[in-house]
Amino acid sequence: MSKGTYSFTTPIYYVNAAPHLGTAYTTIAADTVARYQRMNGYDVAFVTGMDEHGQKVADTAASKGMTPQAWCDSMESAFRDTWDLLDITYTDFVRTTEPRHARSVKQFWQDLYDRGWCYKGSYEGWYCVHEETYYAEGDLEKNDEGELVCPDCKRPVQKAGGEENWFFKLSEFQDKLLAFYEENPDFIRPETRRNEIVSFVSGGLKDLSISRSTFDWGVPLPFDEGHVAYVWADALLAYFTGVGYADPERAGEFDERWPMQYHFVGKDITRFHCVIWPAMLMAAGLPITHTIFGHGFLLTKGEKMSKSKGNALKPADLVSVFGVDAYRYYFMSDVQFGHDGSISIERMVQVYNADLANTWGNLCSRVFNMTTKYFEGSVPAVSAEALAAANPLRALSDELYAEYDRCLAAADFTGAAAAAQKLASRVNLYVEESAPWNLAKSEETADELAAVIYNALEAIRIIALYLAPLMPNTSAEVFRRLSLGDIVAVTDIEAATTWGGLPAGNAVETGDPLFPRLDAAAIDLSIE
Ligand code: ME8
Ligand code: MG
Repeated sequence: MSKGTYSFTTPIYYVNAAPHLGTAYTTIAADTVARYQRMNGYDVAFVTGMDEHGQKVADTAASKGMTPQAWCDSMESAFRDTWDLLDITYTDFVRTTEPRHARSVKQFWQDLYDRGWCYKGSYEGWYCVHEETYYAEGDLEKNDEGELVCPDCKRPVQKAGGEENWFFKLSEFQDKLLAFYEENPDFIRPETRRNEIVSFVSGGLKDLSISRSTFDWGVPLPFDEGHVAYVWADALLAYFTGVGYADPERAGEFDERWPMQYHFVGKDITRFHCVIWPAMLMAAGLPITHTIFGHGFLLTKGEKMSKSKGNALKPADLVSVFGVDAYRYYFMSDVQFGHDGSISIERMVQVYNADLANTWGNLCSRVFNMTTKYFEGSVPAVSAEALAAANPLRALSDELYAEYDRCLAAADFTGAAAAAQKLASRVNLYVEESAPWNLAKSEETADELAAVIYNALEAIRIIALYLAPLMPNTSAEVFRRLSLGDIVAVTDIEAATTWGGLPAGNAVETGDPLFPRLDAAAIDLSIE
């Protein structure tokens, strides 16, 4: 029995370049939620995809001597292969050039047009193609050559518009949006982002140009075919497409899944998600996504890393050295979701050695080895009294689920990782304190030895469950070594992490170290 639906998205990434560490960061975060909420009994929809229309992608294609469509087609495998490599379990991958998506865009804007929210007008202003946004002159900056540049990406802006376009009456939503933010304190996370948005909207809103007639790389507006939808008026609707909106083959699904729980985005695009998107939904009379989480930027040497700045390191490069699980773990545990975070190979090695090699991996090796040595490689039986007796691992474990669940529900991945690590560290200490090697010396302490090994193995089972959303492969491997079933089949993690679930008699395999220690000096990689 499912607890209901749990639906969320990553941004629909531009296809001007292949995925990089930044896009992978958001996608891994979403996948961690997907895996957790499946283990938590929800029916998950996890939508990602490619944003293929607009000036930026058209320009990129032209620079490669390709048609926009041919260029976009060539990029699909770059995205899908990266997500496969990182074990991303998305449920829909929306390409904005798909016919099903054009249907969403047309149906939605026809509806807003019919409701009287669109009008024809003209606007001329400074446009940044890279950000696909107009900027007010007062917000622009100057570069060393004295050119006006975009305040976000620092690239030169161009004068654009002037011709007739369609507009969405965004300005009418100022008060409604402010009231909505007030009534829904969780709508914009984290708090800093919420404050930025409230202050931006308090300053007043301008109507939004939602069409272009100067180029045709986009979805034609159904009420005026000479215009194509502005790329943001198109891409946001991919969130609808991914859950079956306007799709006769998926009738009923949209009603079940909308509104979604989350859109996970970076802080570069929170404004589109927290201002334009809810206004569009209000105009359509539709409910609004519960939370927009605008996480921070990955920084190298203090600067935002991006596809175009040539932070040449690819996700695959890191995976080849650290493995997928350690890659995921590093970004989720060490870069607090919501804050900017500096990343480096040195730090990655440090976290790997401390948390994975020395704590979690070492714990498994030690306890599995002792099980082999003292109990011929099978989980020792403990009496009912021994199982019911207080032990420090059980005490900690019993209170951990609530903390862990609270962290994952709030997208606090660092907190979730810390909860699992806390138990792992405690088990290492428990093994030291209990000194099984001494207990093994005498028949009189045989029961005690069995209880210590059982408790340590049981805690390992529970830690593997907690770490599974972050590190799916090693948790599956730990389950295999404990002769437990397939970990991805778990659909009630609260029940599964209840103390005492490990059956006595299960074969335990020691295997190779899960995370062999790494030597930073031997790694020939650099992030920037
Ligand atoms: O904005 N640190 O696509 P995009 C962390 N197509 N995250 C980063 C990052 C960094 N240095 N760089 C990029 C678009 N990201 C639109 C979205 S949605 C309807 C349309 C991540 O390819 C982060 O999630 O420019 C950011 O918001 C996103 O990539 C921008 O991706
Ligand atoms: Mg961008």
